[in-house]
Amino acid sequence: MTILDPHLDPPLEPAAAGDAATDHGRGVAASAPAVRIADVSKRFGSGPSAVLALDRVSLDVERGEFLCIVGASGCGKSTLLNLVAGLDAPSAGTVDVQGRVALMFQEAALLPWRTAAQNVELALKFRKVPRAERRAQALELLSLVRLQDFADKRPHELSGGMRQRVALARALGQGADVLLMDEPFGALDAITRDVLHDEVERVAAEQQLTTIFVTHNVREAARLGDRIVLLSSRPGRVAAEFGVPVERPRRIESPEVSSIAADVTVRLREEVRRHAG
Ligand SMILES: Nc1ncnc2c1ncn2[C@@H]1O[C@H](COP(=O)(O)OP(=O)(O)O)[C@@H](O)[C@H]1O
Ligand SMILES: [Mg+2]
Repeated sequence: MTILDPHLDPPLEPAAAGDAATDHGRGVAASAPAVRIADVSKRFGSGPSAVLALDRVSLDVERGEFLCIVGASGCGKSTLLNLVAGLDAPSAGTVDVQGRVALMFQEAALLPWRTAAQNVELALKFRKVPRAERRAQALELLSLVRLQDFADKRPHELSGGMRQRVALARALGQGADVLLMDEPFGALDAITRDVLHDEVERVAAEQQLTTIFVTHNVREAARLGDRIVLLSSRPGRVAAEFGVPVERPRRIESPEVSSIAADVTVRLREEVRRHAG
């Protein structure tokens, strides 16, 4: 078992001017990455039964970047996302996030007795948006995800894809700068997923979100990501990184996307084999 370094990292130096990120053509030089994960390890439990889920993971996500994280089941993807969301603390290392985060899961986790609009309004309420403005803002957010005609439906009256769109509108209602998505479309059929890819891509660009999207679906990662990070299997480490220099809009079945997915799959297979062997 790997022994964790008990020493926390010293505070990070501010990024030097030389590595200031260009803000994806938005004309703003970002001084710090939106998310900085520095030498993060996470161990669950203690003693012989302890599980080292993440081992010295370092990763910067630039503002406006769409980062996909792939890896085999159990490799620590959700653990990493939870650390970025602040739901859990690293055992070692630091996580710095600029701005507000929102987390989306495979299940939309909407309140079943509230309509789509009321679910979004709740996020606005938590953000202290005055009551009189909430309804209008919720409707605006729902039209952003093309659900304006379903505002007064309850979750059980919506399809799985629609529920995820409500969850996306709610995340935006939380005022998210950094959107964290944990296999959000894993339960959807391929066609619905395809539509949601278009939606998320468009919304992330329009809202200038920084996105970390976790999936075990390599094609989905190549369809969506500016960059793909492959985590190794237990403990999770950054095993490889792939840029995705494919113009948008993209199609999941395009030769360019398929070719990158094939490269990532080769590496993923190696990782899975290594772990199994
Ligand atoms: N709260 C927890 N307590 C104990 N072990 C955990 C906990 N959360 C995750 N793990 C373990 O950490 C490892 C990584 O889990 P997870 O991050 O959920 O993987 P992934 O999302 O990549 O499938 C797994 O071995 C899992 O069993
Ligand atoms: Mg997971």
